[in-house]
Amino acid sequence: MNSIDDKKQELKPFELLLDRQTIAKRISELGKVITEDYRYKNPVMLGVLKGCVVFLADLIRDIKLPLELEFVSVSSYRKGEEREKEIKFSTAVPIPLKDRHVLIVEGVVDSARTANLLRKHIIKEEPASLEIVTLIDKPRSHRKEVDIKYVGFTVGNAFVIGYGLDNTQKYRNLPFIGKLIDR
Ligand code: IMP
Ligand code: MG
Repeated sequence: MNSIDDKKQELKPFELLLDRQTIAKRISELGKVITEDYRYKNPVMLGVLKGCVVFLADLIRDIKLPLELEFVSVSSYRKGEEREKEIKFSTAVPIPLKDRHVLIVEGVVDSARTANLLRKHIIKEEPASLEIVTLIDKPRSHRKEVDIKYVGFTVGNAFVIGYGLDNTQKYRNLPFIGKLIDR
């Protein structure tokens, strides 16, 4: 019998985009490059919740360096009747970042507003360096220019799910990346 709760649990159809092995291989490549680039730098990995979590957990285990882990929580909302979304921090940047090598870790960069705002905000703290790593980049959706140093995978306009990425808070636990199928 279908209850209302069952309905809420229903998932939209999706298809496989990147399988688990492909993702693991790419993350380990990123880990190697970051290990080289950040040697002796004791970086602060600054995860952007919640989409970063699965990627971040894998990535840090492929970075063979001492590092620190911090998180920020960012939410976007519509401001009044304006079309542009505003972005605000629900959790402030937790430690002083002055003179630190900061690497922002994102699950997905879409319009690039979040990445840009974070960058603008953190640069004020005068870090020694500031770069971004994202598992998924959607360059065709960028509305602002953004400099992303490390990209796992580039995809088109598809809405992607899994490996930490959600649609209405679901699918984050899928061990692969899928794309929602429009019907
Ligand atoms: P932005 O548009 O780059 O600022 O990204 C805003 C947020 O939208 C991301 O951090 C994700 O939470 C969400 N988002 C954008 N595109 C996708 C997607 O394809 N899958 C899952 N979440 C997405
Ligand atoms: Mg989301």
